[in-house]
Amino acid sequence: MTQRLAGKIALVTGSARGIGFAVATAFAREGAKVVIADLDGAGAAEAAAGIGPAAMPLSVDVADPASVAAMMERILAAHGRVDILVNNAGIGANTPFLETSLADWNRIIGVNLTGAFMVAQACAREMVRVGGGKIVNIGSLSGQRGGNGRAAYGAAKAGLELLTKVMAVELAQANINVNTIAPGAIETEIAKAMHDRATRAAYHRLIPMSRYGTPEEIADAAVFLCSDEAGYIHGHTLNVDGGFREAGLMFTRDPDTPAAT
Ligand SMILES: NC(=O)c1ccc[n+]([C@@H]2O[C@H](COP(=O)([O-])OP(=O)(O)OC[C@H]3O[C@@H](n4cnc5c(N)ncnc54)[C@H](O)[C@@H]3O)[C@@H](O)[C@H]2O)c1
Repeated sequence: MTQRLAGKIALVTGSARGIGFAVATAFAREGAKVVIADLDGAGAAEAAAGIGPAAMPLSVDVADPASVAAMMERILAAHGRVDILVNNAGIGANTPFLETSLADWNRIIGVNLTGAFMVAQACAREMVRVGGGKIVNIGSLSGQRGGNGRAAYGAAKAGLELLTKVMAVELAQANINVNTIAPGAIETEIAKAMHDRATRAAYHRLIPMSRYGTPEEIADAAVFLCSDEAGYIHGHTLNVDGGFREAGLMFTRDPDTPAAT
């Protein structure tokens, strides 16, 4: 099978586990060298060991400019360039708007939006230098629809989706593709923390495909967007959500119908 990312240097933030790990694993399978950069340094080392010699672990806090600068230095020292960035590191919370503290707000915006901005800017500067690249920002359905408890998280993800569009416009001439993947409900640790039993039941009822997605299904979309096959897809948001976003207002599912999974 052709390796669609052969020889590419790919940075995936938040890739010690979950969606990021699945993306890094798929990128390595497609021939890329991957940097597993995560706040959880031990987890990143374990994840990289699981992927094999194509993977390099790094400890980073994407919300900290000094940490981002140190990460870039290490990547450039090891590989000399970065061709692909997946801005995946993210944290969530399920806090009602009226109870969202400024500290919660700043923390969630700091990682999900400001962190993504800082990493993207640092990588894009390198991509400009080498003549091009691919950037995928991991957004969320919560950045597109008003969800309970998602004031800070939803605002951060909506901001990231708009940042994608501005970057796409400004970086097109530098041969840098920028797109968003907006996952729906994906079975990972963040979902376990944010989705209580009622939320899970509601998702099964409201997602036309009536199941959670898998991290590998997000990874498949990321491989596609970072491959040559997606060269003219630019500034786009690709929802990978089992049809949730497009379901009609009259869409109903009998709550007594057992879920598919
Ligand atoms: N799982 C879902 O249902 C879902 C839905 C929509 C969007 N997303 C988004 O997908 C991305 C990945 O989510 P996941 O479900 O795999 O979550 P996860 O919690 O399983 O993994 C997130 C990873 O990011 C790392 N991380 C957190 N803060 C960091 C920081 N400051 N610097 C570096 N790394 C940091 C964590 O250590 C962890 O390894 C997130 O951006 C999330 O918002 C997830």
